Amino acid sequence: MDKEMIIKESIFPNRIFITGTDTGIGKTVISAILVAGLRGSYWKPVQSGLEEMTDTEWVSEKTGLPDSHFHPETYRLMLPISPHASAAHEGVRIDLDKFQIPEISESGHLIVEGAGGIMVPLNERHLMLDLMRRIDIPILLVAGSSLGAINHTLLSLEQLRNRNLQVFGVVMNGPMNSGNREAIEHYGKVRVLAEVEPLPKIDPEGLKQGFVKYFGVE
Ligand SMILES: Nc1ncnc2c1ncn2[C@@H]1O[C@H](COP(=O)(O)OP(=O)(O)OP(=O)(O)O)[C@@H](O)[C@H]1O
Ligand SMILES: [Mg+2]
Repeated sequence: MDKEMIIKESIFPNRIFITGTDTGIGKTVISAILVAGLRGSYWKPVQSGLEEMTDTEWVSEKTGLPDSHFHPETYRLMLPISPHASAAHEGVRIDLDKFQIPEISESGHLIVEGAGGIMVPLNERHLMLDLMRRIDIPILLVAGSSLGAINHTLLSLEQLRNRNLQVFGVVMNGPMNSGNREAIEHYGKVRVLAEVEPLPKIDPEGLKQGFVKYFGVE
């Protein structure tokens, strides 16, 4: 590993929880960039929707890393709807005590991807925020870059901080919009770690190039 790569890896906490301001905002793509760039491990604790490719299958295929980098989901739910409803449909209740963060080597990186956003219900009482509180690792919030992104990002940041979660930073995903970046940093009092533009190619090489381009040292 060259010196530059070592520097880049060291800015990332060893465990990081990827959440987003919405479903479909790019959590899995950002997770894949980090898993590929850091040669990290990936864990999606709750997968809602099994008919299409699951997020774990997608990150595995796109990064091309060995199976040992992928940890099984704690809950795999058939319907692609909110986890509380998808679980109820199967007669299952999501139980926070069932989640065990996978063990990884001390120097490794574990990327954990949430489901939907932070206030997605898991059961009649708990939200994704409660699971994040249990897991209690630094949070990376994926936000969009277009109109509405400032509002959604500030709302999510406020809730994360109300629950004393440590926000490592925000990643904006989508066509570049530097005005939004400045506003998010100013009003959100947060670092925008990267503004990730649509990737031209999503394969192991394209993801590694994305990592170097967007998360590399200046
Ligand atoms: N930077 C990007 N470059 C290319 N494609 C992207 C990028 N960001 C998102 N996409 C595409 O947009 C779609 C939604 O992204 P993604 O699956 O990462 O969202 P998500 O937040 O993980 O959704 P979910 O809530 O279902 O887990 C996917 O088809 C993905 O490939
Ligand atoms: Mg996803």
